[in-house]
Amino acid sequence: MGYEFILYDRQPDDIGVITINRPKVLNALNWQTLRELREFFEYLLPKENLKSLIITGAGDRAFVAGADILEMYNMKDREFQEYVDFAHKVYELIESVPSPCIAAINGYALGGGCELALSCDIRVASEKAKLGFPEVKLGIFPGWGGTQRVTRILGLGRTKELVFTGEMIDANEAFRVGLVEKVVPHESVMEEARRIAHTIANRGPIGVRLAKIAINAGSEMDLKKALLLEKTLVSLCFDSEDRIEGMKAFLDKREPTFKGK
Ligand code: COA
Repeated sequence: MGYEFILYDRQPDDIGVITINRPKVLNALNWQTLRELREFFEYLLPKENLKSLIITGAGDRAFVAGADILEMYNMKDREFQEYVDFAHKVYELIESVPSPCIAAINGYALGGGCELALSCDIRVASEKAKLGFPEVKLGIFPGWGGTQRVTRILGLGRTKELVFTGEMIDANEAFRVGLVEKVVPHESVMEEARRIAHTIANRGPIGVRLAKIAINAGSEMDLKKALLLEKTLVSLCFDSEDRIEGMKAFLDKREPTFKGK
């Protein structure tokens, strides 16, 4: 499938970059963009075997300014339900892919755009970025995981303030409350995302992938079950060639060469 609204670039070190490419509408997500994201994450990404993936927005103003309001306005009831259901599937897919995903937030991350960033593992924001959930201004509320993923990060009070007022916060406030992990000068946002991606790409890939499962799945369990999951997964790492290489490299005082085996 050729892509109309996303760009995919495979870079050295097994790092991929996905760019949402609708800059004229601040990269608003329409059905077709969601379909392309699903196609990429479900069918192409597993073949690419990436060590890390960056998601960003085209142009200089926006990561993603939310769902496409014009398209939503023209939807019938049933179609809207299917659209929401589809978006949920895509975001759950992004959250669960083995490669760690980094959101490079290069401007507005609103509504579905903020929810997309929250489906990624790590968020780096430009100091010009603005984040928020303006949906209540449109007579709806954030329904692509927003009320749930944000609550798990910010807690009930801050989430309600953001969701009920629909007001945007700037990157520094987003950092202060834990919605993004880093704020960098505008022109450095991709450079910082790449730096993190490269660092991850040089770690033991099995360890990174299993840690992602332990953290994501464990956060949905009670502590006893989560600790059991952690024990099981870390024991799987111990059976890998990478574990032998990583520990031997330390003892030999050299950098490890991991094979992902
Ligand atoms: N859906 C569809 N089109 C959108 C969009 C969206 N979510 N966000 C921006 N656009 C379009 C605008 O309609 C405009 O198109 P036009 O040039 O044909 O008029 C273009 O992108 C530029 O946006 P504009 O509003 O002119 O830029 P601005 O700098 O004045 O404001 C925002 C920027 C982000 C504050 C404003 O565009 C906005 O509030 N967007 C909607 C955000 C939103 O509600 N998201 C949640 C949707 S569920």
